[in-house]
Amino acid sequence: MLEVRHLIEPTDFSTQELDDLFSLADHVIQDPKRYGSQCKGKILVTLFYEPSTRTRFSFEAAMMRLGGNILGFSDPDSSSVAKGESIPDTIRIVSGYADIAVMRHPIEGGPKAASLYSRIPVINAGDGGHQHPTQTLTDLYTIRAKKGRLDHLTIGICGDLKHGRTTHSLAMAMSRYPGNRYVLISPEELRMPSYILGELDRSGSATYRQVKTIEEAIGQLDILYMTRVQRERFSDPKEYERVKDACILTVEKMKAAPSDMIVLHPLPRVNEIEPEVDQDPRACYFQQAENGMYVRMALLMTLLDETGDFYKGKIVHVNRPMISVVETEICQNPKCITHYEAALRQRFVTLSNGTRLCDYCGAVLEKSKGEK
Ligand code: NCD
Repeated sequence: MLEVRHLIEPTDFSTQELDDLFSLADHVIQDPKRYGSQCKGKILVTLFYEPSTRTRFSFEAAMMRLGGNILGFSDPDSSSVAKGESIPDTIRIVSGYADIAVMRHPIEGGPKAASLYSRIPVINAGDGGHQHPTQTLTDLYTIRAKKGRLDHLTIGICGDLKHGRTTHSLAMAMSRYPGNRYVLISPEELRMPSYILGELDRSGSATYRQVKTIEEAIGQLDILYMTRVQRERFSDPKEYERVKDACILTVEKMKAAPSDMIVLHPLPRVNEIEPEVDQDPRACYFQQAENGMYVRMALLMTLLDETGDFYKGKIVHVNRPMISVVETEICQNPKCITHYEAALRQRFVTLSNGTRLCDYCGAVLEKSKGEK
C-alpha cells in the first residue's frame, strides 16, 4: 500500500514536486476534458469547522470537474462535532467513507492532528492564524504564471501579518527559492510572528525589512500581496477598530508602482483595496482565485495518485525530521490544538540548531529553567 501523504504545511512538497504540480495544473487548463473522469469513483470529504467560500467551493468544484464525488459539512454544528466528537474520532470515521479529506479548523494544528489519525490524505485548508498551504499553491502558481519565475523577486506582503495565515504560508514557501526579498508592510501591532521570521532567517537566502506604509515600499515591488485585517482573531474589538484601516491600497498609491508589478489578494476583501483598483491591469486577484480551482485539481490527482500518464513523479511527505514525543513539556502557545483536544500527545520537532518547534502549531518551545 502506498504511504498516505498529506499537505499540512506549504513546505511538505519539495520545490521540484511543486513544479510538477504546477505543470499538471497548466495541462488541466489547456485540456480540461482530458481530466474529466480522472477521479471517477473517488470521494472528497470537506470538514469545514470555520467559514469559507473560495477554498471549499474551489475544492468541491475541482473534485466535480475530475468526475469525483463530495460530501462533508460547512457548519460543525450540523455534525457530531456539536456533540463533542474529537478530531481523531471524526477523521477515523471519515477515513472509512472517503478517499481524501480537506479540513479547515479555527485552532492552530487541527489538520495536523487529524493527519496523525487518518488513513486517507488530509489537506490543511487553513488552521486558525497559522497556515493555509493550498492558498499558497494558488499564489505561487499565479506568480509563476505572471512573472515567469519564483526566485529573485521583491514581494511586499501587506496587512494583518500577525494573524493572516496566508501570509505565513506564502513567506515560508517563497523563502525556499533563491534571492527573494520581502518587504513586510503592517502596523507595529500586526507584524509577522517571530517563528516565521525565524524560518526566513534559517532559509539563508531570503532577506526582509519591516515597514509601516504601502508608500514606503510600492515603488520597488514585483508583487504586492494584500490581505485583510482578520477581525475574528482579535480578542479586543477596540484593538481591531484601531488598526483596521492602517494599510489601504488606492488608485493614487498605484501610480507609484512599477508598470509590471502585480497585485494579489487571497480574498475576501474588506476595505483594504479600493474597488477602483480592480480596473488596473496589474490587479490579478480574481484570476488568482480562479487559478485556485485548477491547482486544487492538480493537488487532488497528485495526492490520490490519479494523475494519469502525465505525472511521473511521486510526492513524498517531507515533513521536518526528528520528531520527538515529549510528554513532560507542553506547547506554550495557548491557541495550539493540544490545549483543546485532550487525547493528543505533545510532539516537538528538533531543528539542526537545537530549536524545538511544536509539530502541530510551529510555536518555538522555550527552554525550561536550568536547560542550556
Ligand atoms: C483566506 C483565509 O481563509 O485565510 N481566505 C481564503 O482562503 N482565500 C484569507 C482571509 O480569510 O483573509
